[in-house]
Amino acid sequence: MAQVLWSGRLSATPDEEAFAFESSITVDQRLVLEDIEGSIAHVTMLGAQGIIPEEAAQKIGEELKRIAADITEGKLVIDTGVEDIHSFIEGVLTARLGDVGRMVHAGRSRNDQVAVDVRLYLKHHIPELQEELRQTGETLLSVAEQHLTTVMPGYTHLQRAQPVTLAHHLVAWAAGLERDRARFADALARLDECPLGSGALAGSTLPLDREATSRALGFRRPTINSMDSVADRDFALEVTSCCAITMVHLSRFCEDIILWATEEFGFIELAEQWSTGSSIMPQKKNPDFAELIRGKSGRVTGDLVTLLTLLKGLPYAYDRDLQEDKEALFDALDTLRASLRMFRGMLASARFRTERMARSCQGGFLEATDVAEYLVRRGLPFRRAHEVAAQVVRDCIAAGQRHIGERTLEQLRERSELFNEDIYEALSPRASVERRRTAGGPAPEEVQRQIGELRRRFSRKEG
Ligand code: ARG
Repeated sequence: MAQVLWSGRLSATPDEEAFAFESSITVDQRLVLEDIEGSIAHVTMLGAQGIIPEEAAQKIGEELKRIAADITEGKLVIDTGVEDIHSFIEGVLTARLGDVGRMVHAGRSRNDQVAVDVRLYLKHHIPELQEELRQTGETLLSVAEQHLTTVMPGYTHLQRAQPVTLAHHLVAWAAGLERDRARFADALARLDECPLGSGALAGSTLPLDREATSRALGFRRPTINSMDSVADRDFALEVTSCCAITMVHLSRFCEDIILWATEEFGFIELAEQWSTGSSIMPQKKNPDFAELIRGKSGRVTGDLVTLLTLLKGLPYAYDRDLQEDKEALFDALDTLRASLRMFRGMLASARFRTERMARSCQGGFLEATDVAEYLVRRGLPFRRAHEVAAQVVRDCIAAGQRHIGERTLEQLRERSELFNEDIYEALSPRASVERRRTAGGPAPEEVQRQIGELRRRFSRKEG
């Protein structure tokens, strides 16, 4: 049954279907504990400021704590026939305390109430997401650590380019996730302001102490402007965009995994519990989890677009359209959290087919850049060296050879006098990787350094 707590000047209420249309409780009920937390801070301040009697404030505060406990213990079930979570809590309070309960909403509007609830919710949940990101990064780094010398082709344009190591590739992914974690920290720092006390849009004639409520709720400071406080949702946009960016990262990692799991690549063997069969083809082992993460990234991009579209064109200050923000925001948070956990499980249990990776470094002339750089070390201008190496590759192809090392020194010297016996040492994928010691490069000790640096960053609290 639809319940309306107050109707103000209105004498008629929407019918059941219309009421359900405007109700948001099925979505905002997850804010229940934050709503109660905000109300406790508000009512304590009302008491301290003498806006309501001290003992009334105390009674309300205690009852709110009881309501929170009752909900947590399952003794009180949220009634989804109420318009939103704010009305539900005020309704319970009034039912239990009568007129004392009716004092809680002095100097407050659901407009600042919902704004504070969502910010509190994010302050609680973003650190949990950052922890998921840290653990996912740590999984990547510890798998990487086992593969510092596992050579594999690095790709550009999805064509074999230069040899790298599996560790180098996995650390590339981890570096992205570390920035994602820092991005959440930035968003968190910016949203850490308390909108409570902004009222419907224009504050209050009552002597509210906004510093006190902000402090009590653990915010860095109160928001600067009451209209901005109830109208803007840039914090939701920012957090959803953090989610969307992270999902796009995961989607790309999953695309690599899906390719690697093909027989054509054959670089990875996913554990059976992280694969699915086919309803018709008995032989199939499909990378569905990776595909679903890739698919769900589209959904989170959609959440971001929903919010951008929702906000564009809204006149200041509050508009009811804003109620639609939570579904997209929560969906983005939930989808990212689940995807990070699935990605981690899938990756930690995968087996890498290192022999296939090594074999794939043969045959695509991945050593051609090493040949050019060998000649540069011997004094040849790079563009000339590039030409010589290209000519040597052409010679190989004409002779049906698949690796520059198959050419004799005499044959190489036909293209440049600068070639010596030591060229052959430079040609193995292993040697190529070991020589790429530039900061950020794939040499094993360098990747080990990158792993250490990322571990340090992942464990930092700030961005
Ligand atoms: N459910 C509403 C929301 O999420 C709460 C604020 C309602 N305010 C109002 N004036 N109708 O935005």
